[in-house]
Amino acid sequence: MAEAIRRAFVCGHPVEHSMSPAIHGYWISQHGLNATYEKIDVMPEDFPDFLEGLALAGYSGGNITIPHKETAFSNVRSKDEAALKIGAVNTVWLENDILCGTNTDWSGFAANLDEHAPGWDSCEVAVVLGAGGAARGVIYALIDRGISKIRIVNRTRSRADRLAGDFASNRGSELLVDDWAELQHALQTAELLINTTSLGLEGGDDAPNISGLPSSAIVTDIVYSPLQTPLLKAADSAGLKTVDGLGMLLHQAVPGFEKWFGVRPKVTPQLRDMIIEKLDAAS
Ligand code: ATR
Repeated sequence: MAEAIRRAFVCGHPVEHSMSPAIHGYWISQHGLNATYEKIDVMPEDFPDFLEGLALAGYSGGNITIPHKETAFSNVRSKDEAALKIGAVNTVWLENDILCGTNTDWSGFAANLDEHAPGWDSCEVAVVLGAGGAARGVIYALIDRGISKIRIVNRTRSRADRLAGDFASNRGSELLVDDWAELQHALQTAELLINTTSLGLEGGDDAPNISGLPSSAIVTDIVYSPLQTPLLKAADSAGLKTVDGLGMLLHQAVPGFEKWFGVRPKVTPQLRDMIIEKLDAAS
């Protein structure tokens, strides 16, 4: 008897521009699987019912994107340590009919640096710009990799203080908060700078002033559209090592695919090129 088709999805609102169907579709055909990956737009008020009905609808699981990640966090029955610490769920799956959730942004972030800046985690001081949801995943990854000192710099200081407090009981990393006006001071000892703010997102050309960074620092941005953000351009011009955010998007997709379809897929240069083409076409 032919094996039943396995179905997964990305659910958001809006979800039209999600690159996840292209990523998972590439892997499905590469592995010759009897599987589908759909794009589903669900309004916030309908999202809890959507989650509740996953088993009945025949899904193995899926990705959750904006604005549903926090609701997914509240509504899954089982979640792992990463989801608990980050406070948001971006990947769900069914295990014996129980809805489980995790957050794979942090492992995607770490895997992207592992691929493009191997040895990055031997650095001692990392500076994180921003204190929103995306910063939480990045900080979880930095703590997981044992970075000794993590400085959080955010326009609104109170948010950074809260974030540092939430991660205070960690595995040995020291978390410090600096005022936005003190950025140059914070950068002086930074070996790794991560931008998690929306500065430089498509359409904006603002870049924080990074003239205070040592010349050996690595600079990365979690924004991948545009690929070369104003921050990365500035860092590149200053001769610093840079890593763009596209690899984080690609690598965060790996654990979900493995959960739903039982195969661990690979992030390849061909996949990256295909997504760059789609991003170029969409912009
Ligand atoms: P996400 O979940 O993507 O992190 P978010 O929670 O809205 O989104 O957080 C956006 C981050 O970008 C915040 O750190 C925000 O700073 P505030 O906490 O002060 O709002 C930061 N940000 C957005 N626009 C910014 C700007 N023009 N300058 C500096 N920081 C900015």
